[in-house]
Amino acid sequence: DRQSLLVALGGGVIGDLSGFAAATFMRGINWVQVPTTLLAQVDASVGGKTAINHPKGKNLIGAFHQPKLVVIDSNTLKTLPLREIRCGLVEIIKHGVIMDLPLLEQIEQYQTELLNLETEVLTDVIAQSCRDKAWVVKNDEKEADLRSTLNYGHTFGHALETLTDYHQCQHGEAVSVGMNCAAQLSVNLGLLDQQDLQRQNQLLQAVGLPICLADLQLDGISATDLLRTMYLDKKASSDRLKLILTPALGQVVIRQDVPDDEILKAIEMCKS
Ligand SMILES: NC(=O)c1ccc[n+]([C@@H]2O[C@H](COP(=O)([O-])OP(=O)(O)OC[C@H]3O[C@@H](n4cnc5c(N)ncnc54)[C@H](O)[C@@H]3O)[C@@H](O)[C@H]2O)c1
Ligand SMILES: [Zn+2]
Repeated sequence: DRQSLLVALGGGVIGDLSGFAAATFMRGINWVQVPTTLLAQVDASVGGKTAINHPKGKNLIGAFHQPKLVVIDSNTLKTLPLREIRCGLVEIIKHGVIMDLPLLEQIEQYQTELLNLETEVLTDVIAQSCRDKAWVVKNDEKEADLRSTLNYGHTFGHALETLTDYHQCQHGEAVSVGMNCAAQLSVNLGLLDQQDLQRQNQLLQAVGLPICLADLQLDGISATDLLRTMYLDKKASSDRLKLILTPALGQVVIRQDVPDDEILKAIEMCKS
């Protein structure tokens, strides 16, 4: 009945699916989220977005429905495959790049400890990453502008996932390559220093993440196809792509005036 409480115990897929069920069952019941992947702990469980995929696109069907409580226990990560840990780290590094330079420095300093799941630093980094995302969501829950900055690396990443039918790479891996594309584009537009691009990419690589299309064996994808798919993404408002770029590590800027040929050039540069 309407008084039921739904508990979502699992990764982001379980969280999104359960949250969507909770949002729609009897026009909404309460739910509690217990995320058990690093990605779900630092990203999917914060912000109240729930969604399911549709053959025509990722997250096309969904609702905003905040859980009453989110319980995070980093001990659940002990059974999580390393590949999944890396995919969670991507979102944490993303938070660092767009808004939190100290967090980025902390990950640089403690990358080994993080990959070894050492509780103290891991808990610290998870908590800080949640605070960062929560701050953004609190100030822009329905994604007017600020929240869209969380899509850094995702405009490119989602297109890669769509083009490969979500089969050839993990979300986090696509986003990691997308972060390289976004940073490269930022450099090409004269926004970001080359050293900062390298610093971001070195960290991604250090924790074992791909940065080029070739790293995912996706360099056969044409830049034009990728750009076309980016335009199909539901987040492309009107006829201009909303691109999330960085002018310096720890800062973010939204641009809707970037010419297509600049985007194509950045993609080409990130092929290998
Ligand atoms: N709602 C949001 O704001 C938001 C944000 C980011 C991502 N997402 C969504 O989250 C999903 C990705 O989440 P994910 O990376 O957690 O994927 P997932 O839920 O598929 O989990 C990854 C794998 O790990 C397994 N698993 C989960 N917990 C485990 C544990 N403790 N030990 C061992 N194995 C475990 C799962 O069974 C699964 O096979 C995507 O569908 C994405 O769209 C949603
Ligand atoms: Zn993501």
